[in-house]
Amino acid sequence: MSTIVFNLDTPSLAKTYDEISDSQYERGQLLINRLGVMATSTVLDIGSGTGRLGRWLLADRLTNGVFIGIDPLPERVKIADEKNTSSNATYKIARAEDLGFIQDSSIDFVYLSAVYHWIADKPKALKEIRRVLKVGGKVGLTTGAKELAEKQTNRRILKKVLTSEKYADRIDLANIFPSNRVTATQLVEQFIEANLALSSLEIIRNDRIQPNGAFIADHMESSTFGNYLNNVPADLRSDVRKDFVAELDKTATQEGIKVTGFTILAIAEKSNQCKCGLKKENNA
Ligand SMILES: C[S@@+](CC[C@H](N)C(=O)[O-])C[C@H]1O[C@@H](n2cnc3c(N)ncnc32)[C@H](O)[C@@H]1O
Repeated sequence: MSTIVFNLDTPSLAKTYDEISDSQYERGQLLINRLGVMATSTVLDIGSGTGRLGRWLLADRLTNGVFIGIDPLPERVKIADEKNTSSNATYKIARAEDLGFIQDSSIDFVYLSAVYHWIADKPKALKEIRRVLKVGGKVGLTTGAKELAEKQTNRRILKKVLTSEKYADRIDLANIFPSNRVTATQLVEQFIEANLALSSLEIIRNDRIQPNGAFIADHMESSTFGNYLNNVPADLRSDVRKDFVAELDKTATQEGIKVTGFTILAIAEKSNQCKCGLKKENNA
């Protein structure tokens, strides 16, 4: 497992993420649609980043509700604040593991769009989420599926580059990919442990056409807030990026480069029922 660090983000990475994160944004919209957020709901967006998804939610759905967005990265919270035009929204620097500034049982919906795989202490985060949710409130998340990581285009191509003769003896692959990903089964177990009743879970295949390899590398760097390639020895980093981009470009067609990934979309509820993974009626 590689180390994830939070001090590599820059204004430029944050700005790039805000501009090119369509894949996370669209799955986030799907997640919010599935959650069924209403105009007057109280919503907590954990890992709100630059606030792009929150802005859509506030404009489109949450017209009379309350919105709180939290993120550990100051550069991203800064953009979210600057672009916020809604008086019912606040953004704050904070982490999922400590929601101490939010009262017990005060939130209708919590969502984590493309965030769960970054969280180091998941039991602590889920305990906090359960605490702040109202009874009947829901938590929803999208996250990369660990069991399918090797089938992802980006991972496959970067691995091909790093295991090539040029780099193989300098790279410890086990230490390269920055993520605290979970499998769908591990996620279900974590919901059970947190006493959150799972209501749905699916694995979604995402196929996107991206313009070129450089765009894909920029997307990876900005969405990992600088962690992508950070565990590659510093003297090799720029060559690895160049070779990664070239390898991606080799796969381009007239339309662009097809990129495939797999996302878990899961929703659970805070119920007053037994400590079980499924809702009581499904578990009788
Ligand atoms: C890929 S971005 C997703 C941003 C946004 N939710 C979206 O859908 O575009 C991941 C975000 O998770 C945030 N993050 C990482 N660890 C976190 C934690 N422990 N608690 C809350 N947010 C975290 C990062 O700072 C980053 O902004």
